[in-house]
Amino acid sequence: MMPDMQGPTSDPSLIYRTRDAIAAADALAVAIVHLDLFTALARTPADVADVCRRHGLHPRPADVLCTLLSAQGLLARDAAGRLEPTATAREFLVDGSPFDARSYYAAMADKPGVSDFLQVLRTGRPANWPGAEGEADWHASMRTEAFAEAFTSAMDCRGRVLAPALAAAVDCGAGRRLLDVGGGSGVYSIAIAERFPMLAATVLEAAPVDAIARRTIRAAGLEGRVAVVEADMFTAAWPAGHDVHLFSNVLHDWDEADCRRLLAMSAAALPATGRMLIHDMLLDDDKAGPLWAAEYSVLLSTVTQGRLYSAAEIGGWLAELGFEVVARAPTALGRGVLTGSRRRC
Ligand SMILES: C[S@@+](CC[C@H](N)C(=O)[O-])C[C@H]1O[C@@H](n2cnc3c(N)ncnc32)[C@H](O)[C@@H]1O
Repeated sequence: MMPDMQGPTSDPSLIYRTRDAIAAADALAVAIVHLDLFTALARTPADVADVCRRHGLHPRPADVLCTLLSAQGLLARDAAGRLEPTATAREFLVDGSPFDARSYYAAMADKPGVSDFLQVLRTGRPANWPGAEGEADWHASMRTEAFAEAFTSAMDCRGRVLAPALAAAVDCGAGRRLLDVGGGSGVYSIAIAERFPMLAATVLEAAPVDAIARRTIRAAGLEGRVAVVEADMFTAAWPAGHDVHLFSNVLHDWDEADCRRLLAMSAAALPATGRMLIHDMLLDDDKAGPLWAAEYSVLLSTVTQGRLYSAAEIGGWLAELGFEVVARAPTALGRGVLTGSRRRC
């Protein structure tokens, strides 16, 4: 049996942040070397849609790139809301400046991560993730045993830090049953079940991760209170009778249409007093930070169909479903949780 989940005694932020930010330098290099974006925006400021049209970019990764460059203090919005280089970017990243530093990045043009992000920008499709051999992307790799085991282990170790913080940040005292959609190893259900002894949980997972979840839950001695259902969350009927739906680090794997689809399925399945818990790293509503989130969004946009979203974006989707964000709380490692409930008339 595993020890109760207490959370760590020291701060692992540097360790997690360095990995989360690993693709961000490549994205900056693309903006400088392949797009000469700062020179273009110095001549004519533009919104993200115009940037896409001018440079032939896909809107999802273009949004991610502009968010990163804003969070890095290299782009800002003018009075009309168009992006333009900041004073620092004008001095170092725009053609004609005596301090033009673009050549410092030129040798990075063909570096694999740089080429990958350029490909994502051009196509909108995930690029090479070091996943299962022959598999196109992370989603496909997750259906293979070895990759699913390695990736779920990565999510589980991060969950050992995040899950106790999430359990402390939400009030599941009144909840009776939690559905942990795409729940991975079950680490979040375990931590919440440990904190709220009256709560039962179900982890909804695709094969082969469902087997990993059963094993982890058994090791925690919680198989009596935390069940696992193997199902495709997009196509299967969700297990009934749950009044709290948790999406932990799930929306960021999917594009906006799929996120809306998942939230609509949740809204349809929840009872009148049901709640959604959306646990993730959240962008600021103005898409100019926080830097850690902006950096991590680059990695996500490169390997999955998703990116990070702001509370305003998620709140907008919830509003269309008759829900609203009623609470927001930080958890750990720069992540936070939104609670969504049905809007009262
Ligand atoms: C980024 S992981 C998050 C895992 C866990 N919730 C966490 O916070 O660490 C996304 C999870 O969604 C699961 N998943 C992806 N597609 C799915 C599908 N169609 N049906 C059910 N689960 C799916 C994956 O197997 C993976 O465990």
